[in-house]
Amino acid sequence: MNLTLKIWRQKNAKDKGRMVDYPISDVSPDMSFLEMLDVLNTQLINKGEEPVAFDHDCREGICGTCSLYINGEAHGPDRAITTCQLHMRKFKDGDTIYIEPWRAKAFPVIKDLVVDRSAFERIQHAGGFISVNTSGNTQDANALPISKHAADEAMDAAACIGCGACVATCKNSSAMLFVGAKVSQFALLPQGRVEATERVMNMVKQMDA
Ligand code: SF4
Ligand code: FES
Repeated sequence: MNLTLKIWRQKNAKDKGRMVDYPISDVSPDMSFLEMLDVLNTQLINKGEEPVAFDHDCREGICGTCSLYINGEAHGPDRAITTCQLHMRKFKDGDTIYIEPWRAKAFPVIKDLVVDRSAFERIQHAGGFISVNTSGNTQDANALPISKHAADEAMDAAACIGCGACVATCKNSSAMLFVGAKVSQFALLPQGRVEATERVMNMVKQMDA
C-alpha cells in the first residue's frame, strides 16, 4: 500500500506544532500501525531527519502506553483495541491518515505524539491503592471469600489500562471513566471496601484539581 501520513510534529511543549505530510510506500497490510511508524522513522533517520516521537511499550495491548489519535478517533478505526493492536489492513491503498496526539489540557504535549499523562498518576497516588502491611504477615489472599460476581466486576474495572483514550475522546476531557474504573476495582472487593469512601473522595478531589 502507498499512503500519505499527516503527522503532528511539535518540538517541545512550548512549540506551536503543525501537521507535516509524509508519503510512505510498500506498506504491508500485515504490519501493525506502530511498525509502519517504525519504517517511517527508519527512513527519516536515514535521511538525517528527526524521527517522529510516539509512546509505546508492551505492543501487546496491555500496558496502556500507546496513545495516538488516528483519523479523528482515539486508537484509530478498529474497535476495543489499543493503537499497538491496530493493523494496516484496516486501511487501503491511497489512504491519507491523520495522526495526532491525545488532545486534552490535562495531557500537555511533550514532543510530537507524546503527551504527559502524569495527571493520571496524581489521581492514582491520591487513592488508587489499599493500605496493607506487607512486612511479611500479609494474610493469604484466598483467606477472604469473594463471590464470583464481585470478582468478575472487579476484574472488569481492573481492565482499565490507564491509556487516556476516554479523556482524549470526551469533549470535556473528563477522566470520570478512568477514575470510576480505578475506584471500582478496589471498592468491589472486601480488601478495598474498608477505605472505599476515603478513596473515592480523594481521587475525585484530585481529578477535579
Ligand atoms: S477507562 Fe479510559 S484510561 Fe481506562 S482503558 Fe478505558 S479509555 Fe483507557
Ligand atoms: S504499547 Fe502497551 S498497550 Fe499499546
